[in-house]
Amino acid sequence: MTTPRPLTSHHAAPLRGTITVPGDKSISHRALMLAALAIGQTRIIGLLEGEDVLRTAAAMRALGAQVTRLSPDEWLVSGAGIGGLAEPDDVLDMGNSGTAARLLAGILASHPIFSVLTGDASLRRRPMSRVIDPLSECGAHFVARAGGRLPLAISGPVHALPLAYRLPVASAQVKSAVLLAGLNARGITRVEEPVATRDHTENMLRHFGAEVIVEFEGAGRVITLQGQPELIAADIKIPADPSSAAFPIVAALLVEGSQVTVQGVGLNPLRTGLFSMMKEMGANLTVTNERIEGGEKLGDVTAEAGPLTAIDTPPEIAPSMIDEFPVLAVACAFATGTSRLRHLGELRVKESDRLAGTAALLAANGVHAEIEGDDLIVHGRSGPPPGDGQVTTCMDHRLAMSALVLGSATLAPVHVDDVSFIDTSFPGFIELMAGLGCSFA
Ligand code: S3P
Repeated sequence: MTTPRPLTSHHAAPLRGTITVPGDKSISHRALMLAALAIGQTRIIGLLEGEDVLRTAAAMRALGAQVTRLSPDEWLVSGAGIGGLAEPDDVLDMGNSGTAARLLAGILASHPIFSVLTGDASLRRRPMSRVIDPLSECGAHFVARAGGRLPLAISGPVHALPLAYRLPVASAQVKSAVLLAGLNARGITRVEEPVATRDHTENMLRHFGAEVIVEFEGAGRVITLQGQPELIAADIKIPADPSSAAFPIVAALLVEGSQVTVQGVGLNPLRTGLFSMMKEMGANLTVTNERIEGGEKLGDVTAEAGPLTAIDTPPEIAPSMIDEFPVLAVACAFATGTSRLRHLGELRVKESDRLAGTAALLAANGVHAEIEGDDLIVHGRSGPPPGDGQVTTCMDHRLAMSALVLGSATLAPVHVDDVSFIDTSFPGFIELMAGLGCSFA
């Protein structure tokens, strides 16, 4: 267990600078996992070295892949080949990471080995039935704690069956778990998603040579994967994480006189809901130097402070900004008018109950916020909210960073109970923000 690290965020000086943020978390997990299933050596540049991804690196090592850190953010993975993973000789501890646990459950489900997944207190509270249910159909046996919670024991079959599954919730993790299980099943695995979710697994599978077909159906997609491909090692360059860039960008939009550029930000359209919504709110956001690298779109994003108006976010945009709602809600607190952020039920099963946590974070700092069904309503203050609140982060990195951003522009400081979990996704966050002008004590 980590020692809680409290921190207070004081009003910042105008934020100024050009920065980079660490590599994309979703892509980093997938890069390590697929490289471990590929034949040959994959060099990964720009890997996020946050706690969550380091757990995945350790797990792939425990499963027989050679995973080496060459230099900061540059890693080399020598894969074991599909079906070639070895039985780990101990429990795999995925720390705080739902993505690591669920995607790995998919890989393990179609390998004829026994494994046990566990995690920290936050991860052990999160629902795993959403992957256990579909993955059981490939012939794997799962034993979990009550309510489908970790620790989870998995025993994979000798010959896994391909899966056909329609996602009951919009979840890239569930989609990816099914596709990854399909890698070691003979035949075609098919996943139907009623609303499109991040497609990094599909993109990266193709990058390694797998045959993946995506058909578009209204707001959704049908993805098919030809099983038992030979994945061939292929170097990967990982863009900066838009979900991490969100914090300095929103801070720059809120602190008067600020202008900040974040370079090389991933701009996959299934990840950029926050930027579109903030533009609709009147935010001064510009993208320059757009380019495609390693199959993903990226660009430099510049944010300049200015007034914001309230927003009503459409339900179907939620998956493309699912991790950004806490920081969007913070922005809505400064806006003129009442915002409604729709279809946030999935936030209840993140690293904490983020829907309740976001409403509480705002309320503690003098912002009226209510939860109505799955929607969050934020009554904007047409300027800086009072602040002076104590925020409880419940082992949730994004609540911690959102609270620190809030405090950088409130009238009085915002106190955060524990910022230690920020390292799961954004190592160096505090120093980086302080370098731009934030004042944390
Ligand atoms: C992720 C998918 C999202 C997101 C998480 C990362 C991924 O979760 O919240 O931080 O890498 O696939 P869900 O798929 O559960 O919505």
